[in-house]
Amino acid sequence: MADMSVEFCGVKFKNPIIVASIEPSNSVDNIKKCIDNGAAGVIVKTVSEMKSMSTLTKHSKYAILNDKGKIIRGKVPRNFTFYSRSGYISEHYEEWIAYLTETQAYAAQHGAHVIGNVSAGTLDMWPKLCKMTEDCGVPMIEINLHSPYPTEWAGKYPGTLIAQSPEATYEITRLCVEAINIPVIVKLTPEAIDLTAIAKAAKDAGAAAVSVNSRFKGFATDIDTGTPYIGGVAGVGGPWVKPITLRWVHEIYSQLGMEIAGSNGIFDGRDAVEFIMSGARIMQVGSVLMLKGIEWLPKVIGDVEKFMDTHGYDTVDAMYGISSRKVATLQELFEASPLQAYIDHEKCKFPICTSCIKNCYYDALNEGEEQVASTEKNCIGCELCWNVCPWDAIRMGPKDLSPSAIEALLVE
Ligand SMILES: Cc1cc2nc3c(=O)[nH]c(=O)nc-3n(C[C@H](O)[C@H](O)[C@H](O)COP(=O)(O)O)c2cc1C
Ligand code: SF4
Ligand code: SF4
Repeated sequence: MADMSVEFCGVKFKNPIIVASIEPSNSVDNIKKCIDNGAAGVIVKTVSEMKSMSTLTKHSKYAILNDKGKIIRGKVPRNFTFYSRSGYISEHYEEWIAYLTETQAYAAQHGAHVIGNVSAGTLDMWPKLCKMTEDCGVPMIEINLHSPYPTEWAGKYPGTLIAQSPEATYEITRLCVEAINIPVIVKLTPEAIDLTAIAKAAKDAGAAAVSVNSRFKGFATDIDTGTPYIGGVAGVGGPWVKPITLRWVHEIYSQLGMEIAGSNGIFDGRDAVEFIMSGARIMQVGSVLMLKGIEWLPKVIGDVEKFMDTHGYDTVDAMYGISSRKVATLQELFEASPLQAYIDHEKCKFPICTSCIKNCYYDALNEGEEQVASTEKNCIGCELCWNVCPWDAIRMGPKDLSPSAIEALLVE
């Protein structure tokens, strides 16, 4: 059986799946339930002194949208959109922080970890919250920079979230790193222009890792009533956002070699594997647990284990970054031998079907008298016709094959 353990920021985790800072990590009972369901770690819901963020949580609203953008009730589809608004932990931070010691002790008994998560409204509160969290015995702290800039910076970084500015990210990260002796993970926002630049600022300031990343904000409307869902702008995410997140996981892994906790878009274990292959060491699972229940965790963990066993990966590290390391440069793509589309006229349903003709934008496929007419010299091998053919009647092969080679290609 595969070894599921990973080392992240110098700490051993029994598997690569942890729970994100979210409602399933907002109470002692919920955190214990995550641990009972096999989580290797749980990041607590953000601890903050900002009263407005507790008020927001007490007025949380959640909606699930389907792929047509309509609110659904009942069964959650794989490609859901979670449209929701909540804030940080509801309790006063001094009360809540005391629970951290209890949950950390429980986690330790079960071979798991509780990870802190803080966000502050003033500069002096960032190191203070970090220190209070460290004193509870947690092995690392995530700092949530998907937060408004501190009040003292009203004129300095106007209108930004901290993690939209490399300078602000550097300053806050440095304050936190200097205040404590455990690793600091910086949580990025996808609403920055260049997440790699923000990650670099975090690295330069001493961060041990980055979490890539929090969620986007969105705006969704019930067009039957002309009213925005749940009152207006809200956080938005779901499994569909995964490729956008992975673009940054890939870039930060490739350009900075930083340790990454992947977050934003994981539904099941196959998604988690994709994060690992892109360069994330550990994966945070959030929305799907809110919608499917914390009992969904063993499925995600089991999926990863099953994938490793069936694909012959002995360790998680054997999958780490493998896809990112295979990315071709544009020059390599330009120099690759060109392909050409070949049509199997026996399988082809022309003229009932004309999909490939409609989708060839290079004038290489046209309506012939009895069959699809190909103008081979125009084909650039883009593969779009192959993707849209509903009858599996197209094969891609090297340019200018002989008739016998084409025959062999079409029976493959
Ligand atoms: C309802 C909800 C509440 C969240 N609360 C927090 C929070 O308090 N602190 C934080 O750092 N991230 C918070 N997040 C962001 C999640 O930790 C996570 O980064 C994000 O949901 C993307 O992961 P997912 O696709 O698995 O949900 C919240 C997300 C949701 C949906
Ligand atoms: S591979 Fe692209 S260019 Fe060639 S025939 Fe198909 S759609 Fe046209
Ligand atoms: S899409 Fe396929 S079936 Fe349809 S015309 Fe083209 S090759 Fe024939």
